[in-house]
Amino acid sequence: MCGIVGIVGHTPVAPLIVDALKRLEYRGYDSAGVATIEHGELARRRAEGKLVNLERRLKDEPLDGLIGIGHTRWATHGVPNETNAHPHFSNGVAIVHNGIIENFAELRQELIADGYTFSSQTDTEVVAHLIARELAAGAEPVAAAHNALKRLQGAFALAIMFKSDEDLIVGARNGPPLAVGHGEGEMFLGSDAIALAPFTNSITYLEDGDWAVIRRNEISIFDMDGNRVDRKRQQSLGTSFMVDKGNHRHFMEKEIHEQPEVISHTLAHYLDFANGRSKPLDLPFDFAKLDRLAISACGTAYLSGLVGKYWFERFARLPVDIDIASEFRYREMPLSKDSAAIFISQSGETADTLASLRYCRKEGLPIGAIVNVRESTIARESDVTLPTLAGPEIGVASTKAFTCQLSVLAALAIRAAEARGTISAEEEKLLVRQLAEAPRFATQVLKLDQQIEKVARELAHYKHVLYLGRDTNYPLAMEGALKLKEISYIHAEGYAAGELKHGPIALIDENMPVIVIAPHDRIFEKTVSNMQEVAARGGKIILITDRKGAAAASIDTMETIVLPDVPEIIAPIIYALPIQMLAYFTAVFMGTDVDQPRNLAKSVTVE
Ligand code: F6R
Repeated sequence: MCGIVGIVGHTPVAPLIVDALKRLEYRGYDSAGVATIEHGELARRRAEGKLVNLERRLKDEPLDGLIGIGHTRWATHGVPNETNAHPHFSNGVAIVHNGIIENFAELRQELIADGYTFSSQTDTEVVAHLIARELAAGAEPVAAAHNALKRLQGAFALAIMFKSDEDLIVGARNGPPLAVGHGEGEMFLGSDAIALAPFTNSITYLEDGDWAVIRRNEISIFDMDGNRVDRKRQQSLGTSFMVDKGNHRHFMEKEIHEQPEVISHTLAHYLDFANGRSKPLDLPFDFAKLDRLAISACGTAYLSGLVGKYWFERFARLPVDIDIASEFRYREMPLSKDSAAIFISQSGETADTLASLRYCRKEGLPIGAIVNVRESTIARESDVTLPTLAGPEIGVASTKAFTCQLSVLAALAIRAAEARGTISAEEEKLLVRQLAEAPRFATQVLKLDQQIEKVARELAHYKHVLYLGRDTNYPLAMEGALKLKEISYIHAEGYAAGELKHGPIALIDENMPVIVIAPHDRIFEKTVSNMQEVAARGGKIILITDRKGAAAASIDTMETIVLPDVPEIIAPIIYALPIQMLAYFTAVFMGTDVDQPRNLAKSVTVE
């Protein structure tokens, strides 16, 4: 989840590396560093905290080298401070690393016994010492790197630089992504194509087990056995612009507001609005012949899958097993040969989701991936990519990617229902027409910002919040709680409303507001009963409902947020907006770092 950059250039590279790190800051932001070679010696600047601190450092003490590596960190081993910040050095070797070296404790003991001293608590430093030891034993830099790589277990993406060769960076990948960028008389290395976008859009993605020798005029890629391998050079898509906040305070706010447009783009990709049909898809399986569908993902993406489960089962009568990917990957779930698997990921790089995908691949299942980053590892390793057209999502809290994932899942469920003959052509037409209304309703909901901001001002005074919902609003209740806790740091729980009396009701008092997500649907009355139970115990209710629901629920609330009456199939998409806005405004009132909340990273490439 750290970000890596390397440049073998012909002008001072430090400012270019910082520029690339800014694009990678979403991957981690607890410390950062740059190393170059200055007058034949390795030199580095590192700083705890955000990249601005490193920029300040570099302003006071600039670096002029023409070759360099840089890093923005999300701590795994060792607290986030300057000593643990990358690059790490050992006797003429500089290194930056993303991932976890699983056998680092054993390697560390071995290196200490050989007289190496450690200046940090990181697992990364063992790699620097291992390479230095190879050099000391007489190996050339490239061979030294290769020999050391063979000793490493775990997940890593590495950039390695040697003070003895100012025309060489070695990159290596086993797990986390790494891309090589081709230039004219200069070459680049980065965690993703976005980082390299200002320099080149001619990219080669390293595959697992690959390592690359990068020089100004040449790039060679090898496998772990040292055999040269050919990897496709490709033009990276749509990343040649720097995403900015426009006139919004935060990326999260901007991304919330982009939803009507990106939902519309995503739906149009899958649905033929003119004819009221779902568009044919080139799938590696036939929905009509499936007996089960396995869905797996993490965090918010998992919650979109949970909504999808309701849709696939309801419309297509297709049973869905849905799992959190970190559980799925080790559960050794028996998978029927007539199943297919779908993985959902905004980044397309989430380590647990990728591992689950590989498990299903091994079991011989056809694989689809709903991803936002089309060039990601999950996209590349699946049989079919089902893109969300959300555009780059920078805010750590996922918003527009979530509603676009829901849009894809709704369209897929309709496609499955059509294939399985569980809906008529008329019903399909109606559902497609209803989905087409989602962007319009989303625009209306965004206009409720003043009321939602007022509720958030109140919410910011509490320490605990409970979210309740039934049916597809149950995953939304969990998503609301996740959003609130991750950016405002207020403790929140999401529950199925019917579970209230099986435990959480004990928590209800005037200090714990209860946010109830309840459109006026088939089970609205049931949720009203749960609200009565809360009200009877002095609980304060914030009700998110529609006009019919507001009229029907004769209950005193702290606030009722009234959304337009929307068709049931689009309710999860539309109700996602007020819960995102509520979390956003609450975080703003709490004064937290909304786009880069503490301890989190946008792309979770470690377990
Ligand atoms: C929460 C959030 C995370 C991600 C999760 C999966 O707002 O963003 O829970 O949803 O880390 O990430 P992706 O979708 O990139 O696999």
